[in-house]
Amino acid sequence: MLKGKKILLGVTGSIAAYKAAHLIRLLRKERAEVKVVMTPAAKDFITPLTLAVLSDSRVYVEPFNPVTGKWYSHIDLGRWADVLLIAPATAATLGKMAHGISDNLLLTTYLSARCPVVVAPAMDTDMFGHSSMQENLDILRQRGVQVLESPEGELASGLKGKGRMLEPEEIVLEMKAFFARHPKKKTKIAGKRILITAGPTHEAIDPVRYIGNLSSGKMGIALAEKAVQMGADATLILGPVDNVNISPKIKVIRVTSAEEMYRAALEEFPHSDVAILAAAVADFRPAERFEQKVKSDRDELVIRLVPTPDIAAELGKRKTNKQILVGFALETENELQNAMEKIRKKNLDYIVLNSLRDEGAGFGYDTNKITIIDKSGNQKEYPLKSKIEVAEDILKYLQEVYL
Ligand code: C5P
Repeated sequence: MLKGKKILLGVTGSIAAYKAAHLIRLLRKERAEVKVVMTPAAKDFITPLTLAVLSDSRVYVEPFNPVTGKWYSHIDLGRWADVLLIAPATAATLGKMAHGISDNLLLTTYLSARCPVVVAPAMDTDMFGHSSMQENLDILRQRGVQVLESPEGELASGLKGKGRMLEPEEIVLEMKAFFARHPKKKTKIAGKRILITAGPTHEAIDPVRYIGNLSSGKMGIALAEKAVQMGADATLILGPVDNVNISPKIKVIRVTSAEEMYRAALEEFPHSDVAILAAAVADFRPAERFEQKVKSDRDELVIRLVPTPDIAAELGKRKTNKQILVGFALETENELQNAMEKIRKKNLDYIVLNSLRDEGAGFGYDTNKITIIDKSGNQKEYPLKSKIEVAEDILKYLQEVYL
């Protein structure tokens, strides 16, 4: 099942690095092609020569050959690979991956790789349990990195607990499962330009107050992350959300109000093949914005609201027959009927419905449960999944039915 698969193995400076030798042997036995990138720290634990002999390929450590000045392209390495597997992955490497720090060849390769990434963490149990480590793993998971489960067991420190690297035999099984899930074919989405709106909008009342909503932007960000992983170019128009980590491969346009999102969307739409409108755009804004902070010594305050521009409807009007327009709907009643009405009114190709009735679905959660509805009323229901998996479902549906 691994025959001919191109596995780029990243090895980092953990005591478990010695297991990389065995892992390479097992992968090669399955007739996978293996290339190895080591961090400089990994060389203290196992020699590049050992891994070069076992992988039957040169091992990459430095970005340049110090004698000839030849540059080893991290971009080529990333393009070559069907998967980047980092095993063992230390706390330092995982932390740098989560925060875009690229101070060695493995990390520059990670940042530029378009292929899926799988990591097998390896560290002491207290490090593994530290909240910063768990947060870093969550960031990576949200970006679609597959984090292999670390089993309980004895550690080099003598302690017992989680943090050990998964055994090489188990990693090989995970790789087989991975390729079963990702059958190799060039995706039709590759090279497509996908525009995504995400997050809430804030409509100013005065210089310090606004009308907004609870959208976290997570669904739209996951769509952009998954789109670039599938080889597309993604432009993300993102409303005001904090603490988001977004891959540098995504072009991000930050906006605050519905009006700004509208203008950015109109600007970007003509050069897009697909637009997915996942933003929870405020439907109304205050008609007037107070120049100064509104004082509290009033008996009442009436704020007159006027509608914001409907981005989806405007893009629907401008859509050519080569462009695909996808909307989202969050309904509390008459879901199907309202969704169909929106498809018609906004000239959408299909709509992703998330129901507030489903536990764990919608605003703020890391999970979502969707039903896709097309113009003819055909419905496809999906189970509750993480938002990155939901993003994959939405893009696969796009690919299978529309591209
Ligand atoms: O009408 P409703 O707001 O429920 O429609 C939801 C869909 O329309 C979403 O895809 C949302 O991003 C989009 N929308 C928009 N501009 C608005 C309001 C909604 O693009 N002003």
